[in-house]
Amino acid sequence: MIDIVLYIHILAATVWIGGSIFLFTLGIFLRDKKAQKEVYYHIGPLYGYMESVWLTVLIVTGLWMFFNLGIDNIVKNGFPEEFASVMTIKLWLVALITLFTIIHMYIAFKTHNKERGTIEKMLSRGSSMAIFILNLIIIWFAMKVRGFL
Ligand code: HEM
Repeated sequence: MIDIVLYIHILAATVWIGGSIFLFTLGIFLRDKKAQKEVYYHIGPLYGYMESVWLTVLIVTGLWMFFNLGIDNIVKNGFPEEFASVMTIKLWLVALITLFTIIHMYIAFKTHNKERGTIEKMLSRGSSMAIFILNLIIIWFAMKVRGFL
């Protein structure tokens, strides 16, 4: 069973992170403002729904492994120390990614096909940049967690 759950977890991670890198790249390299608006108008909501499903899958499968592999006790007892701290950092990264995703989606749906104000623009760009960077960092900690098992 653990193999299947881990497989789904890794599949979800590839879709979630791959999607975020692709959209981030699009935002940088698709310089034509009109084309960018059109692309985001058409794929934005679809991408948003798809990514939230995969993030949920990541969290559900991650929590399943967390409790079924006894990692909850390791974090609770703080022993082995290094394993507990690597897992704790990963959990904080997941919490931050989830928070920035909620902020990003809230603004995206609120301003879909509307002009954005300065604060909305800053929050939207800042949150997508944060998700992008945190995603690159979380792979490192995910790899370390695996190393302890
Ligand atoms: C954005 C969210 C997440 C991402 C991108 C992510 C990514 C990954 C990746 C890529 C691996 C495989 C690492 C490897 O094989 O070297 C992994 C493993 C693992 N993840 Fe996550 N993860 C996320 C959320 C979570 C959450 C919320 C938990 C627990 C509460 C969790 C617990 C685990 C565990 C226990 C493993 C190792 C399982 C094993 O090796 O048997 N993950 N994660």
